[in-house]
Amino acid sequence: MSMKNDTHRYGAVSRALHWGIAVLVIAAIVFVEIHSLFPKGSEPREAVKLVHTQLGLLIFGLIWLRLAWRMANPPPAITPPPRAWEAHLATLMHVAFYVTLLALPVLGVAMMQAGGKPLTFFGMPLPLFLAEDKALGKTLKEVHETIGNVVIWMIAFHAAASFWHHFVKRGDTLGRMLPPWLANFGRSAR
Ligand code: HEM
Ligand code: HEM
Repeated sequence: MSMKNDTHRYGAVSRALHWGIAVLVIAAIVFVEIHSLFPKGSEPREAVKLVHTQLGLLIFGLIWLRLAWRMANPPPAITPPPRAWEAHLATLMHVAFYVTLLALPVLGVAMMQAGGKPLTFFGMPLPLFLAEDKALGKTLKEVHETIGNVVIWMIAFHAAASFWHHFVKRGDTLGRMLPPWLANFGRSAR
């Protein structure tokens, strides 16, 4: 098993970072979406929101790690090669993931500090970057929620595109991101 990407496959580290971050992002979204099931001010509501903020901050750190790893490990080639517009759209989507997943935690911290809400990371208080300003907090919250909802659609589109390439085009786009024993899942040999 290769740790590093080679010319045709993502290596174990890239795959672990991709799927690990995917699970954390989906969990962060699920935890924030379920908070409205609990009454305002109740303990479970605050608890699921806390899980959301902790996951979000963790994702922020992991994205930097992933970007650093990616610089040293360029993505492997796709077989058969995608058309130019497909390759451009995929690159645009990947860049959008990195940008939004770095922006959301920054906005999250800023909106909470402007809203006057204390913030910790696994029990450690975070330094204060912004003074309390409720109006600013409200605006930042709206921006955070809008971008958060855009990310949900991006995930759906990105996953659908990868299934399209795997099952319909029968390329190795998804296979490169899976462990070798799963690379052809759901497909009969042809
Ligand atoms: C990459 C990480 C993150 C993602 C994908 C994300 C995504 C989201 C989404 C989808 C929503 C709900 C939008 C809606 O209700 O329409 C939301 C709300 C929220 N997020 Fe995040 N977020 C992230 C990081 C953070 C961080 C780091 C913090 C705080 C430090 C944070 C604090 C909040 C808060 C307080 C809400 C509003 C909850 C409420 O309605 O009271 N988020 N986020
Ligand atoms: C929260 C969820 C997800 C995020 C944030 C995410 C993000 C990304 C990013 C940024 C890349 C580019 C990797 C690079 O830098 O080279 C990528 C590649 C890829 N992802 Fe995801 N992904 C998510 C979920 C999924 C899911 C659910 C699937 C499939 C079911 C999937 C399949 C793939 C595939 C096949 C690639 C390789 C595509 C290529 O190199 O053109 N991802 N993903």
